[in-house]
Amino acid sequence: MDNNRRTLLKTGTAATLAAAVPSILKAQNTPDQIKIGVIGCGGRGSGALAQAMSADPNVILWSIGDAFERGINNAVRVGGRFNERMQAPKERQFIGLDAYKGVLASGVDVVLLCTPPHFRPQHLRAAVEAGKHAFVEKPMAIDIPGVKSVIESAQMAKKKGTAIQHGFCWRYHPGTKQAYEKVLAGELGRVVSIYGTYMLNPVAPLANGEEKPDGMGDVEFQMRHWQNYEWLCGTALVEQCIHTIDKVGWAMNDVAPIAAVANGGRAQRDDQSNLFDHYDITYEYPNGVTAHVGQRQMNGTHSDVTDRVYCENGTMFSPGRCSIKDVSGKTTWRVRPEKGVEDNMYQVCHNEFFAALRAGKIINTGEYMAKSTALGLLGREAAHTGKRIKLEDYWKSEEDQAPDDIQFGDTFPVASLPIPGKERPATKPSRG
Ligand SMILES: NC(=O)c1ccc[n+]([C@@H]2O[C@H](COP(=O)([O-])OP(=O)(O)OC[C@H]3O[C@@H](n4cnc5c(N)ncnc54)[C@H](O)[C@@H]3O)[C@@H](O)[C@H]2O)c1
Repeated sequence: MDNNRRTLLKTGTAATLAAAVPSILKAQNTPDQIKIGVIGCGGRGSGALAQAMSADPNVILWSIGDAFERGINNAVRVGGRFNERMQAPKERQFIGLDAYKGVLASGVDVVLLCTPPHFRPQHLRAAVEAGKHAFVEKPMAIDIPGVKSVIESAQMAKKKGTAIQHGFCWRYHPGTKQAYEKVLAGELGRVVSIYGTYMLNPVAPLANGEEKPDGMGDVEFQMRHWQNYEWLCGTALVEQCIHTIDKVGWAMNDVAPIAAVANGGRAQRDDQSNLFDHYDITYEYPNGVTAHVGQRQMNGTHSDVTDRVYCENGTMFSPGRCSIKDVSGKTTWRVRPEKGVEDNMYQVCHNEFFAALRAGKIINTGEYMAKSTALGLLGREAAHTGKRIKLEDYWKSEEDQAPDDIQFGDTFPVASLPIPGKERPATKPSRG
């Protein structure tokens, strides 16, 4: 792995940032204000920003960073709803690929990392080195070196006493939590099999025939359409269906699978993206348990996002309005939203995060969230190669799919599609 990409900020500004007082101390000493910065302020960054501001009346929007101006405008608009708590003037707004450095140097206590996942390991490492608490959206990486970097960052954060909160939002959903707790408590007997689906329409596909405008570099074009390129999103399996894969891990009590076998392909897409539009994965677990994940992003097809956790004495269905059926098919339990309990999982996530910071309790979910991401990568790799891949072997992968020190104007030809059973093409775009 090239450490350069993820081990940034070792010199110069970095040294200054790294020397910063761990901000938990600041939060405790000045309980009136927790200053937040958003890095990547599109759909999710705006949502996370609003949830962070709603989680605590003294959270201040202090700084904003985005690769493009439209992200800054989003954050200004959403922050503006919180009136005087919007305190990110132009001089603390940063645009471009280095925007994260500006946010980290601006005096924030907490950063919300909500860019496309390609950048997550790099941004998390920089945040930890700068002594900042971080909310980290899923998925955490797009390759194994990235996963390992996230684990290393989490260990560094532990030593520094800074917090990492993850964005696998279903783990915060009160009803879904109740259902998984029942499974994990053994109320249905042993888990024997799982089938989880994430079948929806394509997310932000390239418009038919859309071409890069004259004068725009490949990197800028691909970043503006990041959901279409493996090096940026990790594939639709890793970017979207990772929720389902994370819930497989949850139902299995986060025990690691032994191996994965998978199918995948591209039946409907005919655009310039380099993504499969469907995957079917079997994860092999100890004791003969298998977990199956079906993912699809195709227009005009049946939509289904359901997890079925088959146990000795019944089946649990999730997420959301979860239920349990006994072996005869009779519903024996159904979650009911509890009155007065916050039901918005995104909000619960931020409420817990900021309440813990206030209490001086350091949440650090880095290692687990990295491992959950690795499950998605394992399934992707099994589908792309057509091989049965053991986790212990894949864990040694040094394939670094994320180019370093990219610039908007760079030329990056799109990597070709993998063909299972044949040589897997390098997915790292080569500088043309
Ligand atoms: N937990 C969830 O349910 C959930 C829901 C939606 C998205 N997400 C995750 O959130 C992340 C963002 O997704 P989104 O839907 O908000 O995408 P988006 O395209 O709406 O927003 C991404 C933003 O990041 C900016 N950006 C890109 N590269 C950057 C860089 N290097 N530095 C700074 N800014 C950069 C973009 O300009 C854009 O404003 C993804 O990882 C996605 O999987 C999670």
